[in-house]
Amino acid sequence: MKIFNEIGPLRTYLKEITTNGRTVGLVPTMGALHEGHISLVEASKKANDITISTIYVNPTQFNNPSDLQKYPRTLEQDAALLEKVSCDVLFCPTDAEMYPDKTLIKFDFGHLDKVMEGEFRPGHFSGVALVVSKLFHICEPTRAYFGQKDWQQLTIIKRLVNELKFNIDIVCIPIMREADGLAMSSRNRRLNPELRSQAPIINQSLRLASELLRKGEEVATVKKAVKEAIESQTELKLEYVEVADPVNLTPMNRVDKSAEAIIFVAAFAGEVRLIDNMYLE
Ligand code: PAF
Repeated sequence: MKIFNEIGPLRTYLKEITTNGRTVGLVPTMGALHEGHISLVEASKKANDITISTIYVNPTQFNNPSDLQKYPRTLEQDAALLEKVSCDVLFCPTDAEMYPDKTLIKFDFGHLDKVMEGEFRPGHFSGVALVVSKLFHICEPTRAYFGQKDWQQLTIIKRLVNELKFNIDIVCIPIMREADGLAMSSRNRRLNPELRSQAPIINQSLRLASELLRKGEEVATVKKAVKEAIESQTELKLEYVEVADPVNLTPMNRVDKSAEAIIFVAAFAGEVRLIDNMYLE
C-alpha cells in the first residue's frame, strides 16, 4: 500500500495509475478503523481497480473541542488493517496540508443540516461538506463509499454531489453491528466496560420503535417509548429520537403502515455521543 501525506505527490501518483479508464474507489474516514470501515474498503475493492482510503480527523466538523481532542487516533494500527485488506493507497494528510489558510467557505444545506445532528452539532455538516469536497477534488474518484450509520451525512453528501456536479457515484454500505447489536463506531472504544454493556439499548430501542410504528402507533408515543427504554434501563441519556423521511429528512408525525421512514437516535453514554438509525421499509 502506498502512503501519502501530501496532496501533490498523491495527485501525481494517481495520474500515473489511472490511465486507460481505471476506476477509483474512495473511502473517506477519520481513522480508528473497525469492521464497518473495512466493509467499505472491501466494497470498493470489488467494484473498482484502485481503492484509496483517507484518514483525517477533520477539525472543521467538530463543534465540541473536547470531542476533537479525544477522538481516537490510531494511525499505525489503521494502516496495518488497510494493508491486510489490500487497500491500494492511504492518504493521511496533516491539518496544514488540508487547511493551509483559515477557511472562509461555509455550506448551508437548508433544512437538511438544521435537523437532528445539524441541530445539536451546528456547523458540523458544513465542515463535512468542505473536507469531502476537498477529498473529491484531490482524489477524483469514480465512486465514494459512506456508511448508513451516518444517514444524514450521506443525504447531505448526495446533495453536494448533485448540486456541484461532481461526477462521482455515492455508494451506501449497511451498518455493521457488534454481536449484541451496537452499531460499530470509532467512538465505541472510548466507552468504559459498564457503559459498553449498556450501549446496545440504543439498537434495542430502535427495534422497539420500528415494531410500534409498524403496528400503527403514533410517532409521539413511539418517541416516548424510546426515551423510556433508554433512560429507565441504563445510564445513557437520549439527545434526540426522530422519525423522518429517508430522502428529504423531513420529520414525520405519523407513519402510514406501508410508508418508508427512518428512525434516528443520538444518545450520550457518559461523555461519548453515539448515533444509530433503522430503516423502516
Ligand atoms: O464519516 C466520517 O468519518 C467523516 O465525517 C468523513 C466523511 C470522513 C469526513 O471527515
